[in-house]
Amino acid sequence: MSVGLVTGASRGLGRALALGLARKGWSLVIDGRNEEALNTAGQEMRLLQPPGAQLVAIAGDITEARHRTELAGAAYALGGLDLLINNAGSLGPSPLPHLAHFPLQGLRQLFEVYPVAALGLIQETIDLLRATPTGGRVILVSSDAAIEAYPGWGGYGAAKAAVDHIAAVLAVEEPALRVWALDPGDLRTQMHQEAFPGEDISNRPEPDSVVPAILELIQSDRPSGRLRAADLHSPAAAS
Ligand SMILES: NC(=O)c1ccc[n+]([C@@H]2O[C@H](COP(=O)([O-])OP(=O)(O)OC[C@H]3O[C@@H](n4cnc5c(N)ncnc54)[C@H](OP(=O)(O)O)[C@@H]3O)[C@@H](O)[C@H]2O)c1
Repeated sequence: MSVGLVTGASRGLGRALALGLARKGWSLVIDGRNEEALNTAGQEMRLLQPPGAQLVAIAGDITEARHRTELAGAAYALGGLDLLINNAGSLGPSPLPHLAHFPLQGLRQLFEVYPVAALGLIQETIDLLRATPTGGRVILVSSDAAIEAYPGWGGYGAAKAAVDHIAAVLAVEEPALRVWALDPGDLRTQMHQEAFPGEDISNRPEPDSVVPAILELIQSDRPSGRLRAADLHSPAAAS
């Protein structure tokens, strides 16, 4: 039975990915700060899991070291860790401020939730990932804002660029693992709405739309690297 740890799984992309993994029979460790929302999502996942698969939902803030230790401990108790998805995060100040007056405390928080928390959780789980016979998989959810210069996206984009670089270096330091920085593309989620306050974002695809291709990536031997969900081939997604 494969075990996956998905952060930020109470809504949006993390919830969609965790539901997809549950349907495929994975045991899961999930988190999010809002306990009620997390438990509601966890119940949906339990209904999809086959007998024997387990789900552990731990409410907490990924920027806190003790919470990250709890998540890794839960994976250990389930027998190990085959997949870590560092997905949790928030937009930062909204509406998106230009860099000339970007609040530095907001920038610090973005770096805490993205590169610092992601690396912290990788450090907590690296021994479990290394012990996976087929090679543990690590997905760090990135963004096109990591590589494009969009006005207003400098703080968020800088934090995501740091995530990309951590993924790239981790990949060469840990050749037995598959490490992917993954840009999911624009998705209709709470965070995306916060980025475009008052705008109708109903033309953006639902997070479910990228799940089949990402599940296929997880099962594949595709080399480590930076990927865009839009470039992943998935017959399931196309059908
Ligand atoms: N939506 C897009 O268009 C888009 C595009 C490119 C990249 N992304 C990336 O995709 C990922 C998911 O975003 P989304 O659009 O699905 O956002 P979302 O709908 O706002 O979901 C974010 C999830 O992360 C959790 N979370 C936020 N801060 C947390 C913290 N400090 N500790 C633990 N959990 C936390 C949230 O739950 P709580 O609030 O209850 O903690 C929620 O479950 C993010 O890394 C984002 O940067 C999104």
